[in-house]
Amino acid sequence: MSKKFKVVTIGGGSSYTPELVEGIIKRYEKIPVTELWLVDVEAGREKLETVGALAKRMVKKAGVPIEIHLSYDRREALKDADFVTTQLRVGQLAARALDERIPLKYGVIGQETNGAGGLFKALRTIPVILDICKEVEELCPNAWVLNFTNPAGMVTEAVLRYSNIKKFIGLCNIPIGMEMGIAKLLNVDHSRVRIDFAGLNHMVFGLEVYLDGVSVKDKVLGMIMDPANASFVKNIDAEEWAPEFLKGINVIPCSYHHYYYKTSEMLTRELKEFESNETRAEVVQRIEASLFEKYKDETLDVKPPELEKRGGAYYSDAACRLISSIYNDTRDIQPLNTMNKGAISDLPYNAAVEVSCVITKDGPVPLTMGELPVPVRGLIQTIKSFEQMAIEAAVEGSREKAIVALTINPLVANDKVAIAIVDEMLEAHKAYLPRFFKKINKFNV
Ligand code: G6P
Repeated sequence: MSKKFKVVTIGGGSSYTPELVEGIIKRYEKIPVTELWLVDVEAGREKLETVGALAKRMVKKAGVPIEIHLSYDRREALKDADFVTTQLRVGQLAARALDERIPLKYGVIGQETNGAGGLFKALRTIPVILDICKEVEELCPNAWVLNFTNPAGMVTEAVLRYSNIKKFIGLCNIPIGMEMGIAKLLNVDHSRVRIDFAGLNHMVFGLEVYLDGVSVKDKVLGMIMDPANASFVKNIDAEEWAPEFLKGINVIPCSYHHYYYKTSEMLTRELKEFESNETRAEVVQRIEASLFEKYKDETLDVKPPELEKRGGAYYSDAACRLISSIYNDTRDIQPLNTMNKGAISDLPYNAAVEVSCVITKDGPVPLTMGELPVPVRGLIQTIKSFEQMAIEAAVEGSREKAIVALTINPLVANDKVAIAIVDEMLEAHKAYLPRFFKKINKFNV
């Protein structure tokens, strides 16, 4: 009998799960998973059953002996897990739509992981992830937890600061998407391209780009000046970069930087989407509905290509290659969210950063990137302050800290606007913010 290898996915009913299943099947020789547990909450029963049935068909077609278990009992599922992946969305897509729409009413960017939307996603999510960490500590203390749940950087730092779990890594598809996108532009295989990444989640820059070990950064900067190449993810319609600006910063921005360096153009786009009920959450709700219709088809036994319309496409590659590298101690390089430990000298030692790391059986070892380039240093440090205030707000249930976080965020940058947005969003998300409302009640008494 093969050795037990148990992977548990919290938020297993997600439309992205077929990617993960495909990634595990593809690498079965390297990661011989024996049990995959897909866990969800009761409210997600229909989705979990649909996705779970597809996962079973995929495994059967591939002919690999992986048992698929569906569960609504997180504690039962976590028992003795080897790897836990988290991909949950507190409040589902309806909450995301509020995160995107409410800030737009005040004339500021409404985005899932940035500005006010990112703040409220953090406030809802961090306490839930900290609860999961407590259960991991008790039920599978040796497991690695790989987190995709957004905002992945803030979630990682919250765990580093407020939980006893050490084997926790934040993952994102942005860096892998940049590498794949740049390889495509250069018309070479992905494996020949390596980028030195440094920054924060959704605030990461490519400091260097190598093709077979030789720098091609200048060539790539030239290529992304073409508007057709300005974004590497499906969820962001990019604006054209000014060549002077790209040459001046001399590093490769990620797609989310459009919100910071082209704020007014991105806001104009978003306001149009707001008017026509086409914000990204609303579009994604429609994509999801049609994906789930596909998943229900009992003849479907592979990942449908429509999944690649989602911004998080290819995240399974990031997850499964990480599981494989830890399991096999491969010591290859991957960009991850982990404790800085001095790798980026301009950010706190204990902060979570997104950085290229060597992956060992003991986890990621961040590569030394040294000082951040001056043109991008200030923005990254500001966003780190925003993140740290947001994390404290989430843990303490502090309205005041949430207001400070939003006021120092460059997408808001106004105290009165921050107060108005925070108060409206606290009310709108009340059901998912118990730490805030317990406190407010206490003050009111
Ligand atoms: C990007 C980000 C992910 C995010 C996704 C949203 O890929 O890296 O963190 O979840 O976009 O995509 P969606 O299709 O939900 O807008």
